Amino acid sequence: MRTICVIGTGYVGLVTGTCLAELGNRVTCVDVIPEKVARLRAGDVPIYEPGLEPLITSNMRAERLQFTTDYAEALAGAEFIFIAVQTPSGDDGAGADMRFVESAARSIAAGLDHSAIIVNKSTMPVGGGDLVSRIVREHLRNPSLDVPVVSNPEFLREGNAVEDFMRPDRVVLGATDQRAAHEVATLYLPLRAPVVSTDLYTAEMIKYASNAFLATKISFINEMARICERLGADVKEVAAGMGYDKRIGRAFLNAGLGYGGSCFPKDVRALIHMAAEAGLHPQMLEAVVAINADQRRLVVDKLREELGDLRGKRIAVLGLAFKDNTDDMRDAPAVDIIHWLLEAGAVVRAYDPVATATAPRAMPGWPIAYCGDVYAAVDGCDGAVVATEWPEFRHLDLPRLHDLMGTPVLVDGRNLLDPREMARLGFRYRGIGRPEAGRPGARQAEDFGDDVGHDRHNASRGGTGNGTMGIHARRSGRGRSDASGGASA
Ligand SMILES: NC(=O)c1ccc[n+]([C@@H]2O[C@H](COP(=O)([O-])OP(=O)(O)OC[C@H]3O[C@@H](n4cnc5c(N)ncnc54)[C@H](O)[C@@H]3O)[C@@H](O)[C@H]2O)c1
Repeated sequence: MRTICVIGTGYVGLVTGTCLAELGNRVTCVDVIPEKVARLRAGDVPIYEPGLEPLITSNMRAERLQFTTDYAEALAGAEFIFIAVQTPSGDDGAGADMRFVESAARSIAAGLDHSAIIVNKSTMPVGGGDLVSRIVREHLRNPSLDVPVVSNPEFLREGNAVEDFMRPDRVVLGATDQRAAHEVATLYLPLRAPVVSTDLYTAEMIKYASNAFLATKISFINEMARICERLGADVKEVAAGMGYDKRIGRAFLNAGLGYGGSCFPKDVRALIHMAAEAGLHPQMLEAVVAINADQRRLVVDKLREELGDLRGKRIAVLGLAFKDNTDDMRDAPAVDIIHWLLEAGAVVRAYDPVATATAPRAMPGWPIAYCGDVYAAVDGCDGAVVATEWPEFRHLDLPRLHDLMGTPVLVDGRNLLDPREMARLGFRYRGIGRPEAGRPGARQAEDFGDDVGHDRHNASRGGTGNGTMGIHARRSGRGRSDASGGASA
């Protein structure tokens, strides 16, 4: 059992602290927000993260996990001090704002009376480890203490964070003091994950490069989606067909509203900023950002194409969080979409299964009617937008939805629904990168032969993993497999 202090009880700090306690360590989490700490002490988890609450409760009961606002209490006897505070975009919207990290480093230095290893979990620009080291050295009350800094970037996904922490693909540790890195590695031994041991800068860069690559995959498939739409191809099947190739992989090839959340947007911008500061021009990353921004606009454009002027039109936004299984509203596409809808004079109704408390904070005072379920949201609406890939949106009572909507226009920003089924039910359905025969600029299908294309692979057959769409068996090279794919026009 090691003694650990975790600074910050947000999505990363809370998961890190709880999981390290679950691995048998004694963990104290410290945060500067007293209400958050009070809620945690009362067993009330301030974020929605599947599987986290029972782990917090059981580890608190076992007295391996506690929460405080008092640094002295949190640092007492700590062998490892994890920094897990936020590093949002700075005021210029580009580089990372390191003020929270700097403040945490000063508090560590002020409160530490023994040698300990600092572990940087927060995503910090290359050189962040040096910055923490320098601040701690400058402010330590006892300068003879040994306080090495190890970079240990976090790769967890919100919505799957506990599982990701407990079963990481790899643990990255970067340090100038390899003995310190080795000590941190011992904490992760029970996870039996590969450990990538590097210098400090390389570990910091691995985090940015990983996020930038995943964001690039998303913008890549969104660019393909635009091309597919024009040429009459279906990007979902293109992605599935590509994904079987092990060199490519299926993950992060879902065309839709693009990436959002607290990591990809700010990390890609920060990497661009770092490169620019170094005198480089990272053209590909800039294109990734530009494509992502366009993708959100696309949904409103599609609504306009279907409904004309949006003034006075009732639009339901289904899903508000930036992704499913989280209540995190940071940089959620729904916020931009709702902003543009309201700007266009639309009447907005909204529903999200869990982000009902966080959404109004992200859109304070906005005239949005929050509804208790999908059906209440779409009631009497002229259009609906699926903005988050919540699993429940895959299993809607579509005939009921159709009956409730004034004009059954549905823009599926996450490609959750089947265009043929939607057309059959009488919806005016618009997906992202799905065939749109009959639309101006879209290529017209020459062969709608309905004898092809109904042999769908699904997850249980080792298919795409989304369970709804796979590769169609085609008998004719150019034939469209989706007889009603163009019927949504
Ligand atoms: N959220 C994710 O999915 C994710 C994944 C990987 C990496 N990261 C990175 O991890 C870091 C934390 O992200 P997050 O989403 O958990 O942030 P968050 O905003 O949810 O949580 C940060 C917490 O730190 C607290 N805090 C701020 N300054 C403090 C201080 N001086 N002392 C004590 N507590 C302080 C805040 O009050 C807050 O509770 C960021 O650098 C982020 O880029 C996040």
